[in-house]
Amino acid sequence: MATVPTEVRLKTGIPGLDPLIQGGLQKGDFILLLGDLGTGKTVFSSQFVFNSAKLYNEKAVFATFEEDTRSLKRNMLRFGMDFDALEKEGKVKVLDLEALEGRGMGSNIEALLGALDDIGARRLVVDSLTAFMSGAEAKFDYSFLMHLIYKTLKREGVTTLMTVSRPQGSAVVPEVGVEEFVADGIFELRNYVSRDVEIKTQFLIRKLRGTEHSRKFHSVLFTPRGVEILPYTP
Ligand SMILES: Nc1ncnc2c1ncn2[C@@H]1O[C@H](COP(=O)(O)OP(=O)(O)OP(=O)(O)O)[C@@H](O)[C@H]1O
Ligand SMILES: [Mg+2]
Repeated sequence: MATVPTEVRLKTGIPGLDPLIQGGLQKGDFILLLGDLGTGKTVFSSQFVFNSAKLYNEKAVFATFEEDTRSLKRNMLRFGMDFDALEKEGKVKVLDLEALEGRGMGSNIEALLGALDDIGARRLVVDSLTAFMSGAEAKFDYSFLMHLIYKTLKREGVTTLMTVSRPQGSAVVPEVGVEEFVADGIFELRNYVSRDVEIKTQFLIRKLRGTEHSRKFHSVLFTPRGVEILPYTP
């Protein structure tokens, strides 16, 4: 009789998400989180790192290219995520890639892998891939680097989430888009105008390899603990 391998799913702990993806991600998954400005990408990815270290005993690196470390930590503290405390315990490392800017792609990648190694991290966030890859200009470089990063993280079994800033409706990265094909999963946060009176946020899963996932548009709430994804209601 053929044995069905028991699948280990890694919970994200983001309220409402795991039930939509068969309980969680698979080890080594490489996920892109797409979203327009201010849709909650940083909050979502902070929860991914925070929960990993706090709840699931998997050390994690948060590489920020968008906000400096201080303002990131301060903003996330408002959602009850104390990154300073987790850093002191050696469970999390917040890496400021902006501060390293100008040193080129090679050293950015080195810093990233070094940080993972330092604490023995099992999960990684890069916020944002858009900024991280801005050093790679030629199309060839970009594609080559994407594959390199993908393969390296896969080999190490690091489960990764990278954000992509993208105006709604436009291509992921104009004229490139290789990351869409490389990624195991694509999540999207999008804002829309509700009844002409307010902006609301929705979440959807565009793909997730090897997973039977929701294909619905889910409402997103901002709570005192971060974002929460609601079950679909017609
Ligand atoms: N304390 C809070 N309570 C409720 N909503 C909040 C709070 N703080 C932030 N927000 C909402 O979260 C949004 C910002 O979230 P976040 O920084 O994660 O978005 P982002 O997609 O990373 O933005 P950017 O494109 O600027 O990087 C704000 O625009 C606001 O709507
Ligand atoms: Mg952000």
